[in-house]
Amino acid sequence: MDLLTARIDLDAIAHNTRTIKGLIGDVRLMAVVKADGYGHGALEAARIMADNGADAFGVATLREAVALREGGVDKPVLAWLWSPEQDIAEALALGVELGVPSLAHARTLVDAAVPARVCVKVDTGLHRSGVDEADWDEVFTLLRDADHLTVTGVFSHLACADEPEHPANDAQATAFGRAIARARSLGLDVPVNHLCNSPAALTRPDLRHEQVRVGVAMYGLEPVPGLNHGLRPAMTWAASVLVVKPITAGEGTSYGLTWTAGEDGYLAVVPAGYADGVPRNWQGHLEVGIGGKRYPQVGRVCMDQIVVSLGANEFGVQPDDEAVIFGEGGMSATELAAATGTINYEVVCRPTGRTVRTYEGGVHL
Ligand SMILES: Cc1ncc(COP(=O)(O)O)c(C=O)c1O
Repeated sequence: MDLLTARIDLDAIAHNTRTIKGLIGDVRLMAVVKADGYGHGALEAARIMADNGADAFGVATLREAVALREGGVDKPVLAWLWSPEQDIAEALALGVELGVPSLAHARTLVDAAVPARVCVKVDTGLHRSGVDEADWDEVFTLLRDADHLTVTGVFSHLACADEPEHPANDAQATAFGRAIARARSLGLDVPVNHLCNSPAALTRPDLRHEQVRVGVAMYGLEPVPGLNHGLRPAMTWAASVLVVKPITAGEGTSYGLTWTAGEDGYLAVVPAGYADGVPRNWQGHLEVGIGGKRYPQVGRVCMDQIVVSLGANEFGVQPDDEAVIFGEGGMSATELAAATGTINYEVVCRPTGRTVRTYEGGVHL
């Protein structure tokens, strides 16, 4: 029996993939499975997404891309976070497409003289990685003239997509259009261009171009609080209650005795701590779901465990009962994010340490 599990509902991922495909019509869907599929397992997620209509996959690193290929994913895979100092031979041999985020990256690919599919990442205002406008012409020309390189398109990333009306979105969209036009005017064919992440893909149909790169929504999380696209969260993080024990009014629990019982009652000890991804600063914000009821986590978060106040334990919580940290039967990842001052993206990347990932559903179509 595993004490702490991240349970992944593959049917939810299948449903989300089909839902997003339905929303974007004939635009291509690149599913983003970086960071181990936002904590859901990149390979398992990619396989179910591929079966349900994802056209391509996006990851950050070369290692992530190679793992997909080695796991049998044969649809296009784009990796956009690599260094010109790295060995790119293995990724290229496996047909991984590389993002080109700077002039130095373009020169490396030209000098490598190895056939490769590449996509130019242009900076349109995020000012993170991406070719600066001053270098666009040189990069486009270098790539155009390298016979061993196939340029699939141009892509860019939005800074404020989770605020659909933010003026920066339109400014970046204009710059993106300028990059595509410039590439074409220099004779570079750029057939598949992409700017939208989840929030933009769902709220700005005018910015979708030929492809969208959707991450968080694939896992059932709304990228803009308050919207509802009928997505189903795929992850539940749950532990088995270890111990239920009484506490007397005035007694404290956990390090520092930072919480004391106001009345006689019961505590449940839950085996998930900061070494497993429950940060200490969730103290006082987390409510754990047990038997369909919510109970406050109390006192300090320890390395291996947290303590939950059951009050009078009127619903009879017992050892081995499931204690949901987030997901079905507890707080949603989005709710927990709001309560702890972060975003649902970060919450689903939390389960680590002694967490065992398990899968349910996912019968291949
Ligand atoms: C370049 C790029 N494209 C797409 C995505 C997917 O974003 P989201 O999870 O909001 O869909 C990310 C994730 O941060 C990214 O870095």
